[in-house]
Amino acid sequence: MRQSLIMGNWKMNGSREEGRQLAKALAEGLGDVVQQVVVCVPFIYLADIRDVLASSLIAVGAQNVADQAAGAYTGEISAAMLADTGVKYALVGHSERRSYYGDTNQSVANRFIQAQKQNIVPVLCIGETLEEREQGRTFQVVDEQLDAVIDAAGIEAFAHAVIAYEPVWAIGTGKTATDEQAQEVHHYIRQRIAGRSQAIADKLQILYGGSVKADNAKGLFAQPDIDGGLVGGASLDAKGFLQICHSV
Ligand code: 13P
Repeated sequence: MRQSLIMGNWKMNGSREEGRQLAKALAEGLGDVVQQVVVCVPFIYLADIRDVLASSLIAVGAQNVADQAAGAYTGEISAAMLADTGVKYALVGHSERRSYYGDTNQSVANRFIQAQKQNIVPVLCIGETLEEREQGRTFQVVDEQLDAVIDAAGIEAFAHAVIAYEPVWAIGTGKTATDEQAQEVHHYIRQRIAGRSQAIADKLQILYGGSVKADNAKGLFAQPDIDGGLVGGASLDAKGFLQICHSV
């Protein structure tokens, strides 16, 4: 039985005070839950939000992590720095990083490895664009994104990692994958991992991301291979995000 995981990704939104208020509302409203809840906040607010959430069950995550351990990499934030700040999870390879900031499969694999070296759980984001889906290349794209990391980090590394399937066409568009579309790809991903290790595949949390809202979360989370969600826009509203957390 896999534990559910709900992650909010605030992306580049909100002020320090707004972030603190949102975190406070989440901590107060969460109540008793069985699933793990994480909020991925802007680097500059990690310490503030960590403090607000200190006595709650909600962990803080980063939205990215450097692909190098330390050194002359101006503007980057290392995994060691994140660990030092109390970060438990880090997104790697979010589609916005891949498309706007040039993250490649190779650099994503390096980020994944750097995070794990510091005991931070990498959340490997993968998913196809609309064009790729229409060309019937969804599984091929997922294979390429996944295999680059498996080859670099080894399959055993997935015992301490999370995968987020985020079809690019569903991110911020209001177009959610149907329960069946999402389940189909999640099942495929799990089978791909099972091809290397059944035991790791059985335990691996695979999250769905892309226009998850309070009104579609239940159906998605009820699918056998969907273990939770990576929520963007809807995680900026405490009430809506709490409803999603309670949809598991
Ligand atoms: P939305 O929930 O806003 O579609 O964003 C999804 C996402 O990119 C989460 O990382």
